[in-house]
Amino acid sequence: MLSSKDSPASSIPPLGEAPPDEEEVFRNTLVDLLDTPPHMLTGLRFAEDTARQTTGERVMGELFQNARDAMVSSPAPGMRLLVLLEPDALTVANDGARLTRSGFESLTGLCRSPKAHRLAGGGFRPLVQGAIRPMGGQGIGFKCVLFLTDSPQILANTPGGGRLSVELGSPRVKQLCAALARADGDALRGLLTAAEQAVLDRELTPERPLQTRSLPVHLGSRGVGLDELLNQLPVTPFPMWLHPVPDRAAELLGWSGHAPEGGPFDTVVRLPFRPGQRAQSLELIRDEIMAARQAFLGVRVKITVRDEARSG
Ligand SMILES: Nc1ncnc2c1ncn2[C@@H]1O[C@H](COP(=O)(O)OP(=O)(O)OP(=O)(O)O)[C@@H](O)[C@H]1O
Ligand SMILES: [Mg+2]
Repeated sequence: MLSSKDSPASSIPPLGEAPPDEEEVFRNTLVDLLDTPPHMLTGLRFAEDTARQTTGERVMGELFQNARDAMVSSPAPGMRLLVLLEPDALTVANDGARLTRSGFESLTGLCRSPKAHRLAGGGFRPLVQGAIRPMGGQGIGFKCVLFLTDSPQILANTPGGGRLSVELGSPRVKQLCAALARADGDALRGLLTAAEQAVLDRELTPERPLQTRSLPVHLGSRGVGLDELLNQLPVTPFPMWLHPVPDRAAELLGWSGHAPEGGPFDTVVRLPFRPGQRAQSLELIRDEIMAARQAFLGVRVKITVRDEARSG
């Protein structure tokens, strides 16, 4: 039951470890869905909504703060932040310390952050020692992206030279969840690639077949049937690998053969707007950018804002 993300502190991996690869991302999403009762999944959605409301509509502020924290964790000359406004999406790219496994688990979990240890009497003790400390530490700030999007994308060059490319809130998660909840093996297999089927086959053992797992067993209990479950599925705990990588993101990360001037960025967050809310999302971002830049006070950074949506 979400065990990989709720593991005790003693099993938290080293801070610099790379995030999961495609197979592990799929396996974690599959198992976390399969072994969590529906009413706990909707409970997680409630917690996710609460975290989002706690951060408020400060989307740029939180994204800039995370970029800034990555930069001060890896002080090197020539740090860059790029904000790209397109008619249908916001892209924020930054240099700095690369996204780690702990960071990824923080983005897909709730109230856990590699930036801080929670102190017994409240408050946080920053883990990163240095002249400039991280601003974040609560492990909820990223949730504010859900004000703008149903399907945030996180793409990164990771420690050790790997690549991460995931989408949260993928429509495939809902399809997967519906098939798992109905214990419908045929429908399930129809949704999966050969590689994903191999992962499924390893997880569904003769001792623990599909129909005995928490999701199908508890469907309908505590008033949470399939419709309620699918309407109230949390977004951030269930990443799926992103295929294909959006062109601009690939370019910014140096994955397309056309790396930007100054070299590939380390991390890209891309937020596709809700189709009916594009204009208001763009306005919200434009209104917030100036104030959000304050996150970089005292940090040497080159900030570029490209508003390509004005004419679009
Ligand atoms: N641009 C980025 N580059 C590298 N790592 C990042 C980036 N954005 C987020 N992360 C990782 O994701 C984690 C979760 O981010 P999130 O904003 O949700 O929480 P936080 O920054 O730890 O705390 P707070 O809730 O106070 O903002 C961060 O701790 C960091 O490890
Ligand atoms: Mg943060």
